[in-house]
Amino acid sequence: MTVQANKRVNGQRLWDSLMQMAKHGETPKGGVCRLALTDVDKAGRDLFVAWCEQAGLSITIDKIGNIFARRPGKNNDLAPVIMGSHLDSQPTGGKFDGVYGVLAGLEVIRSLNDMNYQTEAPVEVAVWTNEEGSRFAPAMVASGVFAGVFDLDYGLSRADLDGKTMGEELARIGYAGTADVGKRKVGAYFEAHIEQGPILEAENKTVGVVTDAQGQRWYEITFTGQEAHAGPTPMPRRKDALLGAARVVAEVNRIGLKYQPYACATVGLMQIHPNSRNVIPGRVFFTVDFRHPDDAILAAMDAELREATAKIAAEIGLENDFTQIWYYAPIKFDETCVAAVRKGVEDLGYSHRDMVAGAGHDACYLSQVAPTSMVFIPCIDGISHNEIEMATPEWVEAGCNVLLQAVVAKANT
Ligand code: GLV
Ligand code: MN
Ligand code: MN
Ligand code: MN
Repeated sequence: MTVQANKRVNGQRLWDSLMQMAKHGETPKGGVCRLALTDVDKAGRDLFVAWCEQAGLSITIDKIGNIFARRPGKNNDLAPVIMGSHLDSQPTGGKFDGVYGVLAGLEVIRSLNDMNYQTEAPVEVAVWTNEEGSRFAPAMVASGVFAGVFDLDYGLSRADLDGKTMGEELARIGYAGTADVGKRKVGAYFEAHIEQGPILEAENKTVGVVTDAQGQRWYEITFTGQEAHAGPTPMPRRKDALLGAARVVAEVNRIGLKYQPYACATVGLMQIHPNSRNVIPGRVFFTVDFRHPDDAILAAMDAELREATAKIAAEIGLENDFTQIWYYAPIKFDETCVAAVRKGVEDLGYSHRDMVAGAGHDACYLSQVAPTSMVFIPCIDGISHNEIEMATPEWVEAGCNVLLQAVVAKANT
């Protein structure tokens, strides 16, 4: 049974909640900096928990800081349908990436409360710790622990560039919970998210029915050469680690362009030692992010990167410390969940198309332990991981209405 067709979420309340949450970590350019497990992340979590308690939900926090807010069903022996996403952001992040999936989930529950509508199975909203992977690599680490992809010690020992671990920071902000990670039953999982790319807006579609997600490989590379004086050291004698890194940046770009139309290849982080203008750089640490929806092509990109990196290091005389720190294969979301989203969109009459998720999402790992799918809405100019990231109130409301329909349908089957 679906919710009566005339029932809708309260779009204004959802929009207001998004704007209120965006105050925690707001930046002068109108974006958000709410890095995982910082004081502002704590403030965002506290606000979410307070809102959940006002909505009558019971809160559970697990050992890696994932938060679950539960609304009982008629039959509480049934596994809950869970909605969710993340509250952490990039350093120059926006008001929607992650937060939308969390607060859309809360709005579904607030609306069910308003309608006095009881689902068969319980319904929950989840906040997954450190989805972004910006402060602590890799991304999606806590949903990964939940899904059994990583063990708990691995998750808790992830360290930021200053050496602080997720475990220490969870304890510091008061979100090191007591529930065992991954022991929770999940009947189905739905994640609403902005597309973070330009397709829906360009095609004038309101909702993306997400069928697949592309795979990823992340690398950390340290090139070590020799620091030397920028004046007296002749060019042929240099072992310039930054020159090597710069050549790898160009290779990463070449590999991405070679495997079009879908490949993405990025160097986003680099640390130069000693970072002084008249010292030839002796050591450079940098990262590579590869994505592709076809696992075989992702493997071909991997082989080309390894070969190019080794060749460049040998040519310049650099030590090459090369590690792939993260990999997951492309994902096919569950057909019954995808169908529930598609039916919701069609019943509501929104324009739509099928989509492959370009970004990583907690749904990628949840899909390994439960039937899962996602609902996308457009974002303006496809811009995300940027302070100017924006969606319209109409899109925000439409995606949440679809989430309501899909969740209720699943919770009643
Ligand atoms: C995180 O947002 C990612 O998709 O890389
Ligand atoms: Mn996200
Ligand atoms: Mn993100
Ligand atoms: Mn992401």
